[in-house]
Amino acid sequence: MPDIMRHAPIPPELFVENRRRLAALLEPHSLAVVNANDVLPTNADGTLPLQPNSDLFYLTGIEQEETVLVLAPDAFEERHREMLFLRQPDDRLRTWEGDKLTPAEATRISGVKQVRWLSELPTELHRLMCEVEHVYLNSNEHPRAVIEVESRDARFVRELQRRYPLHDYRRLARLMHRLRVVKSAAELALIRQACALTARGFERVLRFVRPGVNECEVEAELAHEFLRGRGRFAYPPIIASGANSCVLHYNRNDRTCRRGEVLLLDAAASYANYNADLTRTIPVGGRFTRRQRQVYDAVLRTLRAMIRAAVPGKLHRDWQREAEELLTGECLRLGLLTPREVRRQDPDRPAVKKYFMHGLGHVIGLDVHDLGYLSEPFAPGWVLTVEPGLYLPREGFGVRLENVVWITADGPVDLMAGVPLEAEEIEAAMRRRDPGLAEEKHPSPRTGRRPLR
Ligand code: GLY
Ligand code: MN
Ligand code: MN
Repeated sequence: MPDIMRHAPIPPELFVENRRRLAALLEPHSLAVVNANDVLPTNADGTLPLQPNSDLFYLTGIEQEETVLVLAPDAFEERHREMLFLRQPDDRLRTWEGDKLTPAEATRISGVKQVRWLSELPTELHRLMCEVEHVYLNSNEHPRAVIEVESRDARFVRELQRRYPLHDYRRLARLMHRLRVVKSAAELALIRQACALTARGFERVLRFVRPGVNECEVEAELAHEFLRGRGRFAYPPIIASGANSCVLHYNRNDRTCRRGEVLLLDAAASYANYNADLTRTIPVGGRFTRRQRQVYDAVLRTLRAMIRAAVPGKLHRDWQREAEELLTGECLRLGLLTPREVRRQDPDRPAVKKYFMHGLGHVIGLDVHDLGYLSEPFAPGWVLTVEPGLYLPREGFGVRLENVVWITADGPVDLMAGVPLEAEEIEAAMRRRDPGLAEEKHPSPRTGRRPLR
């Protein structure tokens, strides 16, 4: 197949199987529709890059804007059971945006045999609406989603319900959550590729970071590795030096890193839309101070224990509580909490939340904070992040460590196992820094001189 996407072609069997699994969950005589995401506006005539719709990708491997997938597994005519509708290119579109998918390419990617132009959608949809009873439409049901802009899926729901008010409408999102939380072997292989690319970026950063580099220069090193590996940033990277390491979603990435400080890097790649998620905290000068090292080792012990505790049957709520208990013990030993504070704490608001105030982890996949039901116990095939941290703004630093684990019946498999993690490993890697990386290629933009030592 010619290069029509950034990543290597994915065998269409992944998407064929995903559609088969969805069809098995639909009521008899149902229709399901999934829309691409909108290309969102910025200012003036600007637009953001298209963020592929994760459900559409999961079911088809298609990333192109305006695409619509229509599934009607019990349709009388076999050719109506799976249909993809694509934007029809014309000369003007070719001039400005280049080639769009041809029907044959869309079939090769997705395995869907019936690929039509969008202009045919109303007629085909009407025919199917006359045949089916239940209609599954999509919506964003991530519990933490902040929805202020109506998506293409949401507009489709409104319009279809206006035109066909008497059908039985159902929530496709419930079924997508159930399917997407369990990763197949093919999906796991893509997540592993995202993890490997992330590891390469981090190893490059270890060879690059030294006093005087700016956080944005570190971001550039990661971008170099991720883009060259045909990936992208999985999420806006957090490159947080000194006190910035206590800001959980810091992403200004514009401060100069100083000797004696830590640098917290929460930055990872995506590959073929599958995401990794990694956090490491490293010493800017190549060696942790005594205190930084104490806190680092406390977080590292917790990370290791909580990876071991990520087993099938565990409830997220209980896992979170176990981590809070471990970190409470660590905070007592670090002199951050007193036994009295712990004895008197409100069990629903443990004292350790002052230093560890976020979740221990989340499912990950086509979305960084992926879909799934955290009220249900962990099950084989889930992929989870484990990300304990301790944040000490009064001491001017925080430490977070984050790996991605795959839950199996035989226990957790750490997908970041090869990424330097022990403090000594990090320090040793930084001793092998590449002077060329920082000094020759990155003159300071303001002075034109090389960065400070
Ligand atoms: N980087 C986002 C997160 O760790 O959840
Ligand atoms: Mn992260
Ligand atoms: Mn995470």
